[in-house]
Amino acid sequence: MTFSLEQFRLDGKVAVVTGAGGRGNSIGRAYASGLAAAGAQVVVADLNEEGARAVSKEITEAGGQAISVGVDITDAASVKAMAGAAKEAFGGVDILVNNAGLMAELKSERAVDISLDEWNRIMNVNVTGALNCAQAIVPLMRERGGGKIVNQTSGGAFPAISIYGISKLALVGLTTTLARQLGPEKINVNAIAPGNTASDAGKLLTPDDSPFIKFLEASVAMRVRGTPDELVGTLLLLCSQAGDWITGQVFNVDGGWVIRP
Ligand SMILES: NC(=O)c1ccc[n+]([C@@H]2O[C@H](COP(=O)([O-])OP(=O)(O)OC[C@H]3O[C@@H](n4cnc5c(N)ncnc54)[C@H](O)[C@@H]3O)[C@@H](O)[C@H]2O)c1
Repeated sequence: MTFSLEQFRLDGKVAVVTGAGGRGNSIGRAYASGLAAAGAQVVVADLNEEGARAVSKEITEAGGQAISVGVDITDAASVKAMAGAAKEAFGGVDILVNNAGLMAELKSERAVDISLDEWNRIMNVNVTGALNCAQAIVPLMRERGGGKIVNQTSGGAFPAISIYGISKLALVGLTTTLARQLGPEKINVNAIAPGNTASDAGKLLTPDDSPFIKFLEASVAMRVRGTPDELVGTLLLLCSQAGDWITGQVFNVDGGWVIRP
């Protein structure tokens, strides 16, 4: 088929974005708004129900279609209810963006010292949460003859030198495994690994004068910090027909922090 820009459109598609009701200027909010601008009907899902409502309202006021759903991605029953709400509102699901995660709220603990409770809390959200969502939503994708899953990992996974990095590297493993297993069912599974992104959470974690920003300034090829909106183009590629032949990949969107062949 001859290429046309229409292949990036998402009219008639339904997208679920987790972690989309986050702190003010969040990556999930940019993802939900970008998908809606491309024509998708969007389920704005978050533990923070009030935040999710605000983002959904913002999308509908801009002329898009969205609903908000409160969800705890670590709770399989809650995730099932989220999938049910998506089906009831929009008839099914074509796109799942596993963006919810713990990051700014994490203390930088050493692996030899971290309590198993804290370890399990992090892995439950950042890894098992994405699996829960895939388990609830893949059956709906099958009903539509295929779908797209995008997992939000991090430049911090390459290499993993923190507990957070370990969780995001595990999410890469979930991405490649799901890609291989779901490919025959026309479900593409990829990951985006943002660099240091100026969401409210990102700025809280690493203010401009933090040692980590200084470290990045010495090693990043282009600009150290990007904005949530600068991640949206990659997301649209991976969620649309334009990305139909891409699966099992990690896209580092980070100004050249993680450079690899
Ligand atoms: N900001 C950065 O620099 C950066 C870089 C790389 C990757 N990331 C990743 O991008 C994603 C979004 O980050 P952000 O900067 O917008 O932060 P954020 O804190 O604003 O967004 C995370 C969202 O996840 C939600 N969440 C947490 N636990 C949940 C649960 N159990 N169920 C449902 N929702 C839950 C939170 O309520 C929050 O809205 C995260 O996965 C983060 O790890 C961020």
